[in-house]
Amino acid sequence: MKKHALLIFMTVAGGTFLLSSCGGSSNAQTPFERLGGEQGIRKVVDDAVPCLATDPNIGIFFRGLSADSLERIKVCLTKQLCAAAGGPCTFPTTITYTSPVDGQQRTYTCRPMRAAHQGMVGPDGKGIANDDVDSFKACVQQSMQKNGVPQDLQTAVLNILESQRNDVVDDRNK
Ligand code: HEM
Repeated sequence: MKKHALLIFMTVAGGTFLLSSCGGSSNAQTPFERLGGEQGIRKVVDDAVPCLATDPNIGIFFRGLSADSLERIKVCLTKQLCAAAGGPCTFPTTITYTSPVDGQQRTYTCRPMRAAHQGMVGPDGKGIANDDVDSFKACVQQSMQKNGVPQDLQTAVLNILESQRNDVVDDRNK
C-alpha cells in the first residue's frame, strides 16, 4: 500500500515538472532570468573578484592580470554563465568590451575552458589544482550570498562551475 502511494506521488510530481518545463506555466523563469539577466550575473562576477584576488590559493593568478585583461575575463565569465543558465548567449563567443584603461572598445574571442586554463604556473610551480577550483567556487558563492541569490539558484550556478572542473584543473595535477 505504501509503495502504491509513493508511485502516484512520483507520477504527479513528474507531470508537474514536465508541464513547467514545457512552458505550460507562463511565469516559469529560467535561472538566467532569476539571476537578473546579464546585469545580475555581471554583478555577481564583479563582487567575486576581491575574494579571488586575495584568496591565499588562487589570488596570485588574478593579481597578476592587467585591468584590461581582468575586464575581458569578467565579460567572458558573464557570457559563459549566461549561456549555461539558459540566457540568450553562446559560449565560447566573441565579445566586445570597453577597456577600463583607455576607454577603447576591443573585440576578443573567449576561449574554451581547457585552452584558457591548462599550463598556468603558480608559485608552487604547478598549474591549477582541485582545491583551486574549490576556492574559485567559494568566492563566487560568497558573492551570490552577498547579492541575495536564492539557495537553489546558488546550487545551480555552483554546478555550472563544477562542470568545468576537468578542463580547468591542470592535466599535471590529475
Ligand atoms: C571552475 C570554474 C572556472 C570557470 C568557469 C572559469 C572561467 C574562466 C573564463 C570564462 C575565463 C576567460 C577565458 C578567456 O579569456 O578566453 C577564465 C580565464 C582565467 N581563469 Fe578561470 N575559470 C574557472 C576557474 C579558475 C581557477 C580555479 C583559476 C585559478 C587560478 C582561474 C584563473 C583564470 C585566469 C588567470 C584566467 C586568465 C587566463 C588568461 O588570460 O590567459 N580560473 N576563466
